[in-house]
Amino acid sequence: MSIRTPAYEITDHNHDVLIIGAGGAGLRATLGMSDGGLHTACLTKVFPTRSHTVAAQGGVGASLGNMAEDSWRWHMYDTVKGADWLGDQDAIEYMCREAVPAVHELEHFGVPFSRTEDGKIYQRPFGGHMRNFGEAPVQRACAAADRTGHAILHTLYQQCIKRNAEFFVEFVVIDLVMDNEGGCCGAIAWNLDDGTLHRFSAQTTVLATGGYGRAYFSCTSAHTCTGDGNGMVARAGLALQDHEFVQFHPTGMYGSGCLITEGARGEGGYLSNSAGERFMERYAPTAKDLASRDVVSRAMTIEIREGRGVGDGEDHIFLHMEHLGEDMLLERLPGIMESAKIFSGVDASREPIPVLPTVHYNMGGIPTNYHGEVLRPCEDDPDAVVPGLMAIGECACASVHGANRLGTNSLLDIIVFGRAAAIKACATIKPKTRPKPIPVSETERSLDRLDRLRHANGSIKTSEIRSNLQRAMQRDAAVFRTLESLEEGCDKVDEIVSSMSQINVADNSMIWNSDLVEALELENLIACSQATIHSAVAREESRGAHAREDFLDRDDEKWMKHSLAWIDENGEVTLTYRPVHTWTLSDDVDYIEPAVRVY
Ligand code: FUM
Repeated sequence: MSIRTPAYEITDHNHDVLIIGAGGAGLRATLGMSDGGLHTACLTKVFPTRSHTVAAQGGVGASLGNMAEDSWRWHMYDTVKGADWLGDQDAIEYMCREAVPAVHELEHFGVPFSRTEDGKIYQRPFGGHMRNFGEAPVQRACAAADRTGHAILHTLYQQCIKRNAEFFVEFVVIDLVMDNEGGCCGAIAWNLDDGTLHRFSAQTTVLATGGYGRAYFSCTSAHTCTGDGNGMVARAGLALQDHEFVQFHPTGMYGSGCLITEGARGEGGYLSNSAGERFMERYAPTAKDLASRDVVSRAMTIEIREGRGVGDGEDHIFLHMEHLGEDMLLERLPGIMESAKIFSGVDASREPIPVLPTVHYNMGGIPTNYHGEVLRPCEDDPDAVVPGLMAIGECACASVHGANRLGTNSLLDIIVFGRAAAIKACATIKPKTRPKPIPVSETERSLDRLDRLRHANGSIKTSEIRSNLQRAMQRDAAVFRTLESLEEGCDKVDEIVSSMSQINVADNSMIWNSDLVEALELENLIACSQATIHSAVAREESRGAHAREDFLDRDDEKWMKHSLAWIDENGEVTLTYRPVHTWTLSDDVDYIEPAVRVY
């Protein structure tokens, strides 16, 4: 059916479930929901196999124990500790326990994992993953060479096609549509290819839109990682949780920011400073180069600040893999060999790779429970859910990563919670039930947004505002933070919010108007950044990736709580807090008490 609003013609669609995003989380949910007999639509702004999951390299964490003894309880302990006790332990228990069946499922779907001599899935060591509650590194990352995300994404897409899931490709979602009781009843999207607008009604809408790495100047994220779901949620009057926790991956390639997998250190690579010293031995005597990412990124930053950086500007660090031998590198890390050559002109089997901590992951996001249901926390009920709305993957905050995510737990998060959302949806949704009517005001809200940006004829280009944002975030919400840098960042981001009234969108066509897409994305990046910088200035402690030079210690008494940033229509940010879950799911699993975090 088509209906006409004053300026636009809109095509209506009805589905049981609507999934926004076709990375690993979106595809795993699409697969599971289609399998469960739900009429499923998956909307994506890029072709599914171009989603950012394709760039994940080193592995997916699961205690299969293929290389040596392992246990999901050790994995849970490592994740709680890695998260610096900000993670919700019920969700962490769920993720680590379900990791094993979820990875076996991937194997059966056809993911081409690397193999051991006896045909089992090959597993490599990764930062922060230890045996026996922190004793020594364990091999837990299930790897397909250094292209694990690529292998998973392509396999999941093929499995969705096999199940006849319906894809709407190169559709940009403008906004969610909410009903009068505060539930979600679908979304409005723009088809880039022919310029048409579409209104999707669904009993449940699932956000799987990925992170917002592109809020920063230098990141490992694809250009598409613009926090779209987080922006939609903020505009729907819902909160963003723990946005102050932004992960810097220790080994972004110096200059380009391209990812060099932590698997490089898992396979025996190590970092050195200008004196040729393996400095991680001083910072993390047990785990050394395989300490948690926040620990390694801080150590590298200190080495550079204290004058022990390498290169002409003494502004980066070396990653050595020369000693591992060309044959081994070509078998286990072929993608890294190629990237080092292309982006740094380095033959990694002969010379070190220049690296620098680079923005890589957002621990915060849309608050959810471990079923993927979005929360609207209030004083009476910090775990109240929003009817009809789910979020999974990097856009969500379940919260399994707390203040710092362990490597391999992001691929794990997307498959476990994509699967969990499908299980929940199949158990609760009655197929082909008539969806709730969409309030006219909600359609108008979306179309107003589109129209406002489409006809924006101010004096500042989208790219200029975005660049101002990225530079402010890079400088002021960095590996180390101070009150001064964060206050300056808040002022800058607030100025950027105001400058949006002067945005200029050069082209107003509706067909393949990439300038308009970038303006829509920029609003999402700005909402994400507001939540990040305002939550960061308020949090007066150091925890995980949030390292305050003016508050050096973790303060569990005052700050073991999730921050919630609410952004109103005038761009004002209000912060509230909700308690961290200090319970587990099973009677035989004890809560892991906070402790000093050393590696
Ligand atoms: O280093 C890496 O391969 C990245 C993995 C991750 O972020 O989980």
